[in-house]
Amino acid sequence: MKIALFAGDGIGPEVIAQAVRVLRALDLPGLSLTEGLVGAAAWRATGHPLPNETLAIARASDAILFGAVGDFGCDHLERHLRPEQAILGLRRELGLFANLRPAKAIPALVGNSALRPEVAAAIDLLIVRELNGDVYFGEKGRRATSAGLRQGYDLMAYDEAEVSRIARTAFEAARRRQGRLCSVDKANVLETSQLWRDVVIEVAADYPEVELEHMYVDNAAMQLVRAPGAFDVIVTGNLFGDILSDQASMCVGSIGLLASASLNEGGQGLYEPIHGSAPDIAGQGVANPLATILSAAMMLRHSLDSGAAADRIEAAVATALDHGARTRDLGGTLETEAMGDAVLAALEQQGSLAA
Ligand code: NAD
Ligand code: IPM
Ligand code: MN
Repeated sequence: MKIALFAGDGIGPEVIAQAVRVLRALDLPGLSLTEGLVGAAAWRATGHPLPNETLAIARASDAILFGAVGDFGCDHLERHLRPEQAILGLRRELGLFANLRPAKAIPALVGNSALRPEVAAAIDLLIVRELNGDVYFGEKGRRATSAGLRQGYDLMAYDEAEVSRIARTAFEAARRRQGRLCSVDKANVLETSQLWRDVVIEVAADYPEVELEHMYVDNAAMQLVRAPGAFDVIVTGNLFGDILSDQASMCVGSIGLLASASLNEGGQGLYEPIHGSAPDIAGQGVANPLATILSAAMMLRHSLDSGAAADRIEAAVATALDHGARTRDLGGTLETEAMGDAVLAALEQQGSLAA
């Protein structure tokens, strides 16, 4: 089990440290962790946010555990040198096209949701976000308009192969879950979305057991707070998926809770919390590490064939929360490391750690 460990910036190292404690406590045979520099930390040390050495570590690993990148002190840099290029570069270079972002109610935390508890309690959805295309990777730049005005542009584009492969990922996921897929687009306005919708309908022919519906993204944003329990699997493009997943996090209770997996066609995966480097709280030791700890669980399940270990981590997180462990984002006073302690204590309660 060769794991690349890219902590990154801001709260990244703080939350990764707790996930590493949990992984080590499981005493998994053959576990090796190799650290690499990403983001502003890498730019400061090497002049580039995603050094070749880091990319080599990533390629040689079975899975990558990623913290977060981003540093407002880098806002002046040219785009290709900004810390965010580390995560974008890893997604592109490794072909990590399928971003799975589960959002599920945690019974102990329904009161933390921005929604009424009875609405929040019904949440059990999976956002399948396309991660290699859209405005993120289209042609972008600056130019002058005919009137001599400065103009910025980012091309939104998807080809049919990109849409069909993410659609298949989503249909497969829906088949394993409740059998319902909602494709979210803006086909009433965008040609990219019309192509998206046409291709999703074509792929649906191979999945007659999955019930497919289409929804415009503005309506989806509204339905996500009106009745999030009505969703099973959502499939959407890179930009819409980015926004809807942050929104889904507050439906569950905190951005510090949601984990994610980013997978390529070979099954290799990068695992990271959906949140960023949180510069406003970085260095204070108060970040919630659960999203990263739960990302480590997703890593064990999806990339390292250790579903039992993943179950143990998820159960330990639930136990810690049942016992009242709360970081500041959850209305409590526990610091990052103390939340790690609470998860480790719950793991120990489960029995022999070496089992
Ligand atoms: P953010 O997710 O970093 O923070 C948004 C808000 O949520 C902040 O108030 C922050 O304190 C809070 N928050 C986030 N994670 C938390 C946690 N674990 N515990 C408690 N509170 C938490 O988003 P932002 O402020 O818009 O972006 C900050 C930087 O992070 C930017 O540079 C951005 O580009 C980057 N970013 C990186 C990633 C990534 O590495 N994958 C993801 C999102 C944003
Ligand atoms: C995320 C982040 C990234 C994205 C940024 C940091 C490039 O917001 O992982 O959700 O937009 O995909
Ligand atoms: Mn995001």
